[in-house]
Formats: sequence, structure tokens, C-alpha cells
Amino acid sequence: MSAQNDSEDAPQFARPGEATVSAHHVIPQEESLPDTAKQIVEDETMLDGNSRLNLATFVGTWMDDDAKQVYEASFDKNMIDKDEYPQTAAIEDNCWHMLANLWHAPDASQSIGTSTIGSSEACMLGGLAFKRRWQQARRAAGKDTSKPNLVMSSAVQVCWEKFCNYFDVEPRFVPISREHKTLDGHDLEKYVDENTIGVVAIMGVTYTGMYEPVAEIARTLDAIQAEKGLDIPIHVDGASGAMVAPFLQPELEWDFRLERVHSISTSAHKYGLVYPGLGWVVWRHAQWLPEDLVFQVSYLGGQMPTFALNFSRPGAQVLLQYYMFLRLGFEGYRAVQKASQDVAKHLAEGIAGIGAFQLWNDGSDIPVFAWYLKDGHTENWNLYHLQDRLRMNGWLVPAYPMPDDLSDLTVQRIVVRNGLSMDLAAGLLADIQAQTAYLDALESPMPVEGQHPGFHH
Ligand SMILES: Cc1ncc(COP(=O)(O)O)c(C=O)c1O
Repeated sequence: MSAQNDSEDAPQFARPGEATVSAHHVIPQEESLPDTAKQIVEDETMLDGNSRLNLATFVGTWMDDDAKQVYEASFDKNMIDKDEYPQTAAIEDNCWHMLANLWHAPDASQSIGTSTIGSSEACMLGGLAFKRRWQQARRAAGKDTSKPNLVMSSAVQVCWEKFCNYFDVEPRFVPISREHKTLDGHDLEKYVDENTIGVVAIMGVTYTGMYEPVAEIARTLDAIQAEKGLDIPIHVDGASGAMVAPFLQPELEWDFRLERVHSISTSAHKYGLVYPGLGWVVWRHAQWLPEDLVFQVSYLGGQMPTFALNFSRPGAQVLLQYYMFLRLGFEGYRAVQKASQDVAKHLAEGIAGIGAFQLWNDGSDIPVFAWYLKDGHTENWNLYHLQDRLRMNGWLVPAYPMPDDLSDLTVQRIVVRNGLSMDLAAGLLADIQAQTAYLDALESPMPVEGQHPGFHH
């Protein structure tokens, strides 16, 4: 069919050639009318979940109308074209300096940072800086550089497993347990050695939302250094928490106030309150980012340093971040994160009150919490059944096993983000209560064949 021959007046999908199934794996030979193509895209995505009801994701699903205008005016900008968009480049610079200050860099003018596509890239850059620094020190001392390792909790997000896999670093996982719910320095001396390039501490563990006690980990590493002479740096994976702790727990020392923290990463598209995909990584001092990892791109006739895994990527999100920093300011961020935390604590209390569940944590770190079925509560159903029942009303509340050494424990988690109002949360809680009552009333077990977690961290 040729678009030019069509009658624009004919009803959509009754036009010649439109009563057909679109080819899904081959680019169609002919063009189609824009409204038809648009309608097909919209129809085919109609069964996607409603992002506002997606309580599995940490990623922002709501921004205000002014932000949408900033976005619309800039979604054609390529972040790497620093020469063509020098103001966008300058704004990127402003943003990571703001973060360096927010995270208590001793002198933000001596820090270095960059935007990334998200926390995964930011973490990889942090890991690469560790690896290169370690290699340089080992070579200078005439020592072997073939066996670098990175120490972290078994509950790290998959980006750290990817980092180790892609960049030939041995991952050393410290298992979590009911006694040690996060990496907390316990037993750390058994995992680190002269080949350890660094330790990852997570602010806002993906599985549960808990903070790892970075100061405690730093103190343990201080003791290891005093005893064995190993000077091991920390990267804080603050994908969520680095944009929550400064506002809700300002006294907590987890950031550049701790000298051992060389670098911090975060996802702007999580509690930075920006649409996907944007992340940030900042080094407390430029000396911790080895110069030979940095490339130069042209900028206003000169050269600008860049350190990134990608080349082209959207610049609009950087402008959105700047908009949010200006729009909300410190107090606005505090208010938004506090509102989310109030909702999380309210939901956690309500879920604990049902009687069937035990809270793993209560949302008082980042506004995220997890729970599990009380031992011996029922033989008839499990949290995957509850997940499915909630899905019938559109709520995505994932159930999944915990990581090593707790993989026999299934938990369910809620991530409260800006936009999950008390009003919406009341509906969710009522639904959890109703579905739990339904499952508790069953007289025989639900089938469990083929059940498996569909959710990945
Ligand atoms: C602790 C942690 N690190 C890294 C990531 C990866 O973040 P991104 O999706 O921004 O790449 C996540 C995502 O949930 C996370 O929770």
C-alpha cells in the first residue's frame, strides 16, 4: 500500500492495506500514515503495566509539567556534543559539583565527576578507577597485577557482577544473614588481601532498601590497614540512598566525610527525581581518578575531559536534573523524600498489622521495605500468590528470594517513590489486606508448579 494513495478520510484500520497484522520482525516494505503507525505503537503497548502502579521499580515515573516542557525542548541534544552544546556541558558540571558539595567533599573544586546513563555505568566507572589505581600501584612496586578482586555484599545489584565479569575482576561476596542483614564489616578481614582493589558499600540495598553502615566498614578497613598495611578504598553505591540520606538522615556519616570513600555514584532517575536514564559519579579528589582513563573531546575550540562507557547519550536528563535542583532546592528534596518515607512507614506498619507477615525492615532508611511470611503462618499459599493476586488490580509488588546465604527466604518489597500518595497507598493497603484475607480463607493449597521469580535486581 502506498500512503499517498490512501483516502485520509477513511476510518483508521479500514483504509486499504490497514486491516492487517504488522510485521514484527521485518521492517515493512512500504510506509504507513503517521497516525496509523502511532496507533499501532500505542495499541501494542496498551498491555504494559501502569508505571505509577509499579512498586517494583526505583526509577522515577512522574515529573511535573514544567519538567516535561524542559524535556520537550531538549530531547534532541546529545550530551557528548560539548562543543555544540557548551551550556548543557556547563550545566552537567554544575550538577556534579552540587552533588560533591551535598556529599561533603572536602573541597568540591578539587573533586571530579560526570553524568552517566545510570548507576550501572557510574558504578563501572568507579570500579575501573579502583582497578587502574591498584594496577598502577602494583606495577610501581614491581608486583603481580593479574588477580584483582572486589569485595562486596552478596546483595549487590547485578551491575557489580557485570563489572567483575566484563573487566576481569574476581568478585568476593560477603554473604548476608539474619544476624548480618547487610555488609557491616563483620568478617571483612577474611575477604580482603593485597589484590583487593576496593570495597563496595551500598546505601540502599536493592533487595531491602537498607543502608550499609559505611562508617563501620571504613573503621574495619582502618583496623585492617593498621594491622596488615592494606589501604583499601570504598566506593559507595548510593543508587537510591545518596539522594535520600543527605535530606532525611543528614547526621549519618556515609559520604566524603569518611576519608576512605573515594567515589560515590547515584541514579538521578531514582530519588534524584528525574526520568530515566541519568546517573552521576563523583570522586572526592581528582587524584582518585587515574588520568589515563580520561579522554578528551572538543569543547569551545578546546578540549574537555570525559570518562564514560558510552559516547552519544541524551543530554535532556541533565537539564532535567538541573531543573529539579533549582526547582526543589534542599528543602524541596527533603520534603519530597520525607513524604515518600511517611508513606513507606505507614504501609510497613499496615502490612505488619495484618498478622501474616514479618517486616524485614520498615522503610526508615530509604522509603523501601520488605517483608516475609511468618514462619508457620500457612501451608496454603506463598508470597508469589499474593504478588499474582495484587497484579490482578494492576499493582506490581514483586516477590523474590533473598541472595546468598538467605536464598531459602522469599520476601516481597515495596518501593515508595514520589507520586505514590497516601491516598493511593491507602488503596494498596486495602488491597493487600483483602487479598491476604482471601488467601488465608483457602481450604486447600494453591498450586505451586512452575512458580519462579520473574523479577531481577
Ligand atoms: C544499589 C543499586 N546499584 C545499582 C543499580 C543500577 O542502577 P541503574 O538502573 O541506574 O543502572 C541499582 C538499581 O536498582 C541499585 O539499586
